[in-house]
Amino acid sequence: MSTETESTTWQQLLSDHVDMRPIAADADEVISDRNAIVQLDPDHPGFRDREYRRRRNQIAQLAMHYRPGDSIPDAPYTTDEHRVWQTIWRALRPAHQNYACAEYVNALDRLNFSDDRIPQLREVNEKVYAISGFRLEPVAGLVQPRVFLENLADGVFLCTQYIRHHSTPLYTPEPDVVHEIVGHGVTLACPQLAELNQLFGQAVKRTNSAELLERLSRVYWFTIEFGVLRENGSVKAYGTGLLSSAGELEEMHEAELRPFDLEAASFQEYDPTHFQPILYCADSFDEMHGTLQEYLVSW
Ligand SMILES: [Fe+2]
Repeated sequence: MSTETESTTWQQLLSDHVDMRPIAADADEVISDRNAIVQLDPDHPGFRDREYRRRRNQIAQLAMHYRPGDSIPDAPYTTDEHRVWQTIWRALRPAHQNYACAEYVNALDRLNFSDDRIPQLREVNEKVYAISGFRLEPVAGLVQPRVFLENLADGVFLCTQYIRHHSTPLYTPEPDVVHEIVGHGVTLACPQLAELNQLFGQAVKRTNSAELLERLSRVYWFTIEFGVLRENGSVKAYGTGLLSSAGELEEMHEAELRPFDLEAASFQEYDPTHFQPILYCADSFDEMHGTLQEYLVSW
């Protein structure tokens, strides 16, 4: 495949992957202009809030100076931002009781988040690591999907630390710390789901073509991000994109449920900017785990 085609495909993946992972592309460039680390679109809810942009840059700096193995520095969240967490958590708790699969609920109990304040990545990381051996590491700017996915092979999950703007507590145009912690952090505290994340990373490492990487990314999307399964006759979520949004959890019952056919999912296009109209539903947690494990091992 030509270099040009390869780079075009990367860009498409970057713009349609739920995990447009922040990481700094060039440390020298970022440090030379500290106010320009985080670029927000003009239609971003925080675009006109100078204080919010300053804090976003400050949090990005923490990740810039982070070295694997260090203790993760605490992010300086404000009272308004802790209120954002309180609003989200009030909406999510009943949604989790109704729509989260049992394995997620068990892992959530183990992490025991506060109702009142945003959990620090450091605290969540310590608990997740003790349970599954996965490490959460902060990142600051855009990272390619391959970098993000390959880190999973080493048991490392790259996390953003900022929280969405307080004017839109139930909406974020980009993955924030709520999605990272409530979605990925909790599922990585479930050993079977942590294992599947690691298998995704290993499969990506064995994938050379951009086309195959795109297919694997779609399987990641329809399982780890937006997976659902049947439990005692009800449809429950194990996907992080669903479990970190009360709106997505309510809306998942409107989706067309398709059989758990991972080959079909690998060819299914999706739009990350809307509620998902198509979900792939396993008959049980064990069927999801066994089928996905086999798919990834034989990839
Ligand atoms: Fe995600």
